[in-house]
Amino acid sequence: MPTRIKEITDYIDVELELLPAGIKIPFDIFIFEEGEIKQFLKKGEIFSFITKETLKEKNIDKVYIKTKDKKYFQDLIFEVNPKEYIDRLLDRYTIKNEFYFKIEKECLDPELPLNLNLYVYDGKNLKLIYQCNEKESFSIKNEIPDGDILIAKEDLHLYEDYLLNLAKKKINEPSIIKETTKLIIRQVYNEPTNRDKLLILADKIEEIINYSTLNPDILEKFFIMKKHDNYSYIHSINVMTLSISLGLKINITHEELRLLAMAGALHDIGKIKISPIILSKIGRMSDLEFNIYKNHVIESINIAKELDLPKKVIEGIAQHHEKLNGKGYPFKLKGEQISIFGKIISIVDAYDVLTTPQPLRYSLTPFNALQILVQDKGSYDKNFLEIFIKMIGRLI
Ligand SMILES: [Fe+2]
Repeated sequence: MPTRIKEITDYIDVELELLPAGIKIPFDIFIFEEGEIKQFLKKGEIFSFITKETLKEKNIDKVYIKTKDKKYFQDLIFEVNPKEYIDRLLDRYTIKNEFYFKIEKECLDPELPLNLNLYVYDGKNLKLIYQCNEKESFSIKNEIPDGDILIAKEDLHLYEDYLLNLAKKKINEPSIIKETTKLIIRQVYNEPTNRDKLLILADKIEEIINYSTLNPDILEKFFIMKKHDNYSYIHSINVMTLSISLGLKINITHEELRLLAMAGALHDIGKIKISPIILSKIGRMSDLEFNIYKNHVIESINIAKELDLPKKVIEGIAQHHEKLNGKGYPFKLKGEQISIFGKIISIVDAYDVLTTPQPLRYSLTPFNALQILVQDKGSYDKNFLEIFIKMIGRLI
């Protein structure tokens, strides 16, 4: 008996192009036909190249999987094509050896002049839909074909200016905050020692905090979006925004919030000095590998010092893996030796790592992740953890 259309919310669609052919698929696959969702392949059956081609011929470019199977799908993509996985995480596309970035449709405003080219990518073809030297200004009322809207890598700075202008017009718009934050993180990770960019980063973080303090509901909206599509967020954005949220709840000053956000955004910046082989290792690290990995904290501190960041920011970065009981690293600090920023970021960082899918490990639900933090007795500041749990409890 086919499932009725109203039950489609139990399923998520996945691009057919992303589904690897020629292997046993570890979940059921459904297709949507004649207003109904129908089982197409059973878990464990082989999804052949011929089957994939047949679907394409029928103009089917999406299949459905049960929402509960989403993590199996994500793991499969990672296993088959880790590069694709990481690119998706950063909304980055490589098409014919050129880099492109996906942008949000909601961030295009017909009244604001746009001086960059826009492309649409439907999984197969890249099509130029707007050329900046055209006399006519771009209007989103023009039909945008289905697919992802992309911009070229060299136009990222133009898009950033565009977003800043848009932010002045549409304050408190979650999609703009999300886009701007992603750009900041990308820039900082590309060029961590560029002091000028860091100052711009500080200003933008301040703008983001302004949004949140002007409208306390904004961060909640932000996390509702995160729940829908956890993939498009990267760890640093999460740590920064969750740190801001917790900071707002414990009533630290505006200036401290600005510094906390900066520490949250940059806490893992030292990872750029650690070999990608170790960072992306699937499975357990050897003792030697883990010692090298742990060194990312020292590298983060070095970068923060090179940039002359305020003492509080450096403390937050330096202490994000410290535990109250002295079992953390690298300094094995105890109790009150750990700063407020260190206590906040260590809770937020641990929570985000547990709730984000990792190679060979499923992500935990927010509830289970909080349970682990609570059971990890003596590691985290009890008061902050309690406030954090209440805060997350309202968001999930
Ligand atoms: Fe870290």
